[in-house]
Amino acid sequence: MSGVIHLVTEIPGPRSRALLARRSRAVPRGVPAVTPIAIVHAEGSVITDADGNHLIDFAGGIGVVNSGHRHPEVVQAVRMQLDRFAHVGFPVSTYEPYVELAERLNQITPGSHPKRTFLVNSGAEAVENAVKVARYYTGRQAVVCFEHGFHGRTNLALALTSKVFPYKQGFGPFAPEVYRIPFPYCYRCAERQKGASKEAGACCMGNRAKLEQIFADTADPDSVAAIIMELQLGEGGFIPAPPEYVTALAAFARDHGILFIVDEIQTGFGRTGRLFASEHYGLVPDIMVMAKSLGGGLPLAAITGRADVLESCHVGGLGGTYGGNPLACAAALAVLKVMETEAIPSRSARMGERIRSRFSQWAAHHTCIGDVRGLGAMIGMELVERDTQAPDPALTQRFLSAALERGVILLSAGTYGNTVRVLAPLTTPDAILEEGLDAMEQALKSVAS
Ligand SMILES: Cc1ncc(COP(=O)(O)O)c(C=O)c1O
Repeated sequence: MSGVIHLVTEIPGPRSRALLARRSRAVPRGVPAVTPIAIVHAEGSVITDADGNHLIDFAGGIGVVNSGHRHPEVVQAVRMQLDRFAHVGFPVSTYEPYVELAERLNQITPGSHPKRTFLVNSGAEAVENAVKVARYYTGRQAVVCFEHGFHGRTNLALALTSKVFPYKQGFGPFAPEVYRIPFPYCYRCAERQKGASKEAGACCMGNRAKLEQIFADTADPDSVAAIIMELQLGEGGFIPAPPEYVTALAAFARDHGILFIVDEIQTGFGRTGRLFASEHYGLVPDIMVMAKSLGGGLPLAAITGRADVLESCHVGGLGGTYGGNPLACAAALAVLKVMETEAIPSRSARMGERIRSRFSQWAAHHTCIGDVRGLGAMIGMELVERDTQAPDPALTQRFLSAALERGVILLSAGTYGNTVRVLAPLTTPDAILEEGLDAMEQALKSVAS
């Protein structure tokens, strides 16, 4: 076997197909299976399926394994914790891994002001809790979110999520007092297409007058508890917000007593070439929500924020049975150590340069690549129809299947389902990265004009 990709059967092979058949009889189809493979082992950036195929994982468990599958330090930390205790319930008995993790997150998130952290189980739960706290602290009800944003699938998180199908259709009613404003999606911005701001490279929404106008049409700023934002959209298509927009919005929020909640669930823990995307913007959020790669594969999410905001809630107002599970906290402490000892954010920045350069080379030959964008290793490319630049989700699906046939697991993103995104573990060795990118290039040639 020369490289990593080693296909002993077609994808999916007979064993994967058999498990998928059992799955379809036991699990509702609403829970999607975006690849037709069944997995038996994962290590670093490589997945072994039930048929013995070795595949390169550029999906990274949907952004969960920035530190790689089964990082030895994470495995060791979880094993050691399992030998002590697996659960007591933090509301019942205090344990050190939770407290230490809260201390660490208070330290490493932007801003040197006093902070507090509490832990929950999933990204959606962190989002719900952040909004809950912001409402309590401000005594206001409205929450402002973004077109193309994704914040999870529980009821309030779903109200904050933008994309209708498949997430929202038929699942209403949604939580009230949620207001949505446009995300600065430069590639499809009407002003930019007219050429208005393209030359200056400026964001046409990144100024105070425009923000005042947007809010005048949407929600009274003085009734808004919080704005929640992904600085680079994840599920919404890997679209980074222009810095001037974020700066203007943060100032607008501050002037109106609106809390700025930054959703770093997908952008966090090195993905964007910094530990947190907020650092690219010099932004100090009032509240930050984190999940995914925090737990290194174990379910864990965190709400970190200004001490005065988080301390405002009464005793018993926050918490849950499983939040801050000891095994997950032990894993997270190991992840944070790895972030530092293996300089994961700088590796991500270097990896991102390599991915961007390959994508840009392909874009020079294939007019179906409309846009290449992203921060650090959080790079995506938007596939479009050649003449109209209309989104091409069908081509995107053909590309993902062609990549899988060549041994690379990839995901799409975007409201129009036409962005190919890379969420490879940030520990991926250069040779494996190149092998995966070579396979992607072959896949692109096979489907694109
Ligand atoms: C930015 C963002 N916020 C929230 C969530 C929801 O997280 P979870 O699926 O853990 O509930 C996701 C999940 O993809 C996400 O990408």
